[in-house]
Amino acid sequence: MPEPISQVDYWNGAVGERWTTMQEELDRVFAPLTEALLAGAGLRPGERVLDVGCGCGDTALRAAGQVGAGGAVTAVDVSRPMLARGRARAEARAGSGAPVAFAPVAWIEADAQTHPFEPEHDLALSRFGVMFFDASLPAFANIRRALRPGGRLAFLCWRALPENPWVNVAREAVLSVVPAPAPSPPDSPGPFRFADGEALAGLLERAGFARVAVAAIDRDIEIGGDAEAATRFAVTVGPVSGLLRDLDDPDLRARAVAAVRAAMPGGGPVRLGAACWLATALVPG
Ligand SMILES: C[S@@+](CC[C@H](N)C(=O)[O-])C[C@H]1O[C@@H](n2cnc3c(N)ncnc32)[C@H](O)[C@@H]1O
Repeated sequence: MPEPISQVDYWNGAVGERWTTMQEELDRVFAPLTEALLAGAGLRPGERVLDVGCGCGDTALRAAGQVGAGGAVTAVDVSRPMLARGRARAEARAGSGAPVAFAPVAWIEADAQTHPFEPEHDLALSRFGVMFFDASLPAFANIRRALRPGGRLAFLCWRALPENPWVNVAREAVLSVVPAPAPSPPDSPGPFRFADGEALAGLLERAGFARVAVAAIDRDIEIGGDAEAATRFAVTVGPVSGLLRDLDDPDLRARAVAAVRAAMPGGGPVRLGAACWLATALVPG
């Protein structure tokens, strides 16, 4: 059995490159969810924000616009290509002569589980960047230490696969053709790790957060302008791409992709349900 790949290698390898190439498309697809996150975060001018697992920087850059020139954003990630994209976008925006005053963004290549952040942030936020820690409890305790007393946490993570047709329609189609992989060990890093909202709330309380709330966010997201584009998207990102990646047999792969194409609704843009938790909490004090 091959050794499982580390998250640092995973996000610096083909997956990180793919997220970087697809940055604009992913930000467009996730936009309705991003709006829900930012509404829940309630950013105010002058605040200091930590974006955990910032990836290519969409939420860090938006936060920098919301807190304005008097604020500051720390954007942390382990993925070099994704951070480079975020930095390049910030530089392009600074050079564009836009009339809006943005907070400076510090792009930090570091492991958010252990990095000794200054304990000065007003808000830690994340869009799907907190489900990949080796050990979630010490990681969230470290994020709590990055916040001042009274500081806030707000992040999005996925609910269970069957509640997320934007992934599950394609996954079920692929699994009609290829054998299901062995189930991952419980609580291992992965996008659906926090599907159990009660367990997530308990975890955050044990990590030292107060006033923990885990609220369901349901949105239809457009994964493609037509069934072809939606198929391309579905087989390129997330767990479905993982199922296809390990297939050596090109015929089997082609049959799996054809099954996804057949499962996509036709007749225009493909909008499928996405189900997240918006977790919010406070640092006591
Ligand atoms: C699903 S992506 C989300 C990226 C970005 N927040 C977005 O919404 O586009 C998960 C991100 O978490 C980052 N990540 C995973 N483990 C991490 C860790 N221990 N410390 C910092 N970043 C991490 C990955 O490199 C990746 O950029």
